[in-house]
Amino acid sequence: MAEIPARPVLLTGASGALGRMLVKGLGEAGWTLRLTDIVPFPDPLPRGASFTRADLVDGMAILRLAEGCGTILHFGGVSVERPFSEVLGPNIQGLYHVYEAARRERARVVFASSNHTIGFHERSEKLDQDCQFRPDGYYGLSKAYGELMGRLYWDKHGVENINLRIGGSRPKVDNARTLAIWLSYADLLRLVIRATLAPSVGTLVIWGASNNSRGFWGRDGRAVIGWQPQDSADPFISEQARNVSGNPVEERYQGGPYAAIEYSRREPSPKALFPAG
Ligand SMILES: NC(=O)c1ccc[n+]([C@@H]2O[C@H](COP(=O)([O-])OP(=O)(O)OC[C@H]3O[C@@H](n4cnc5c(N)ncnc54)[C@H](O)[C@@H]3O)[C@@H](O)[C@H]2O)c1
Repeated sequence: MAEIPARPVLLTGASGALGRMLVKGLGEAGWTLRLTDIVPFPDPLPRGASFTRADLVDGMAILRLAEGCGTILHFGGVSVERPFSEVLGPNIQGLYHVYEAARRERARVVFASSNHTIGFHERSEKLDQDCQFRPDGYYGLSKAYGELMGRLYWDKHGVENINLRIGGSRPKVDNARTLAIWLSYADLLRLVIRATLAPSVGTLVIWGASNNSRGFWGRDGRAVIGWQPQDSADPFISEQARNVSGNPVEERYQGGPYAAIEYSRREPSPKALFPAG
């Protein structure tokens, strides 16, 4: 029989693309889910699930929602590059509310971080979990802040957290960059299950990508939770390898199109942030 978390699981961003997929998968696994989003949940609720509409900026609402929960799967907020003023409330303040709730409940946070935390590393680089943050916009910056928030709450309060640096999680591989960063829905679901059920995790970073031979990323904390991706973007290589944007900035950096948004340097960003010597 499938393992079930001892306490209910709160999922933010439940009405989003990844949230809906997780609700379906975790609902089928028999988990007790508390769901929230700022927009209504569009699908039938699985048995054992409840939905409450709330804004992440409303700290009291998040505290109430988290009452009695053992894990917060934090997938809500601004999920694309937007002006700083739009990112600030949901992604910075909202994240603080999630971590305060986790502290009060002694809950674990599983955070949907992003490849855009490191988007200004060049595509030729192979990165490990401890590479430098090189956010490629205000969205990526908010995700880097989220990862650091996890460090703070682990060191200061013992709040466990797993930061999933998700590449591109969608049903299909849709261009050449996605051949490197694709995370199948099935691999993401298994990752979230392991991240919730693993007995003791401290604070971890895990690259959210399937087993892609063209991948940009190396070492991370996956062994601690016992997760290995089972899918791969490789079967789409012949179909997508030539599907590139033609924008040199986009094609140079791991963050792709986000790196190119409002890019105003004359010369490319340096390969290393702090050159030796
Ligand atoms: N899909 C990917 O490939 C990918 C890659 C990297 C990271 N992520 C992260 O994973 C998470 C889910 O991604 P997604 O693709 O499902 O995005 P999505 O935009 O479909 O879902 C995000 C959800 O957050 C909700 N939300 C926005 N502002 C809110 C607020 N103020 N209060 C409460 N809810 C709010 C939205 O209504 C939406 O339903 C996001 O945090 C995203 O940054 C996704």
